[in-house]
Amino acid sequence: MEIVILPSAADVDAAAADIVASLVLKRPDAVLGVATGSSPQGIYRQLAGRVADGAVSFAGASAFALDEYVGLDVGHPESYHSVIAREVCGPLGFDQARVRVPDGSAADTRKAAAAYETAIADAGGIDLQILGIGTNGHIGFNEPTSSLASRTRVKTLAPQTRADNARFFADPADVPTHCITQGLGTIFEARHLLLVAQGASKSDAIAHAVEGPVSSRWPGSILQLHPHATVILDEAAASRLELADYYRYAVANKPA
Ligand code: F6R
Repeated sequence: MEIVILPSAADVDAAAADIVASLVLKRPDAVLGVATGSSPQGIYRQLAGRVADGAVSFAGASAFALDEYVGLDVGHPESYHSVIAREVCGPLGFDQARVRVPDGSAADTRKAAAAYETAIADAGGIDLQILGIGTNGHIGFNEPTSSLASRTRVKTLAPQTRADNARFFADPADVPTHCITQGLGTIFEARHLLLVAQGASKSDAIAHAVEGPVSSRWPGSILQLHPHATVILDEAAASRLELADYYRYAVANKPA
């Protein structure tokens, strides 16, 4: 796992955008895993600027969202169908037909989850998965004690997650109670995991994910087992890392 600590949230956005853009320049038909929420918004803004400048194109790339609320109309502005369309698809110029979001409105959510797994496999798997992390350590919506081997499925959102996401809704009671999320086992199969975190509210989850034992108690800790995981943090998110100086040293002395 490579831990990159940068002075500001804007630096995190730019460094993560560099990684995404360089993959898509090398592989225009790359398959990206895209997170929603606040953490990756700056990455998408950065990439949208580069697309507008003609520096990179996502026209041939595909994307799979990490998760979707269950029971929220797809047309709701906070459904992840809407968020992905508004923040990712449109600004980055993806071909809509190559962007998938789990079907949280399906009559049979189990079938929808299985179909999502099949779609990822049919696309050849995910090349680069962008991740944020919840204050309680979740990645995707794999809440604490999610099986490290879990696949795409329905999960109950933790009260902490519902409270954290209440800022997106007019009334906290409107935050759905359930979601369909890629499982930890699904996420783990992506060829490169890129997790970004900004702000002190993420520092505890980051310390557990990066330096704690690998445990379903802190789902982000599964990154420790991945052969290619990059964690990009601002100073505040990194503030509880015991070995922060070593990570800075390792980046400064990275072989060419
Ligand atoms: C979003 C997702 C979640 C978020 C996490 C952090 O698709 O799967 O894991 O990344 O809840 O959310 P923010 O970035 O809003 O703090």
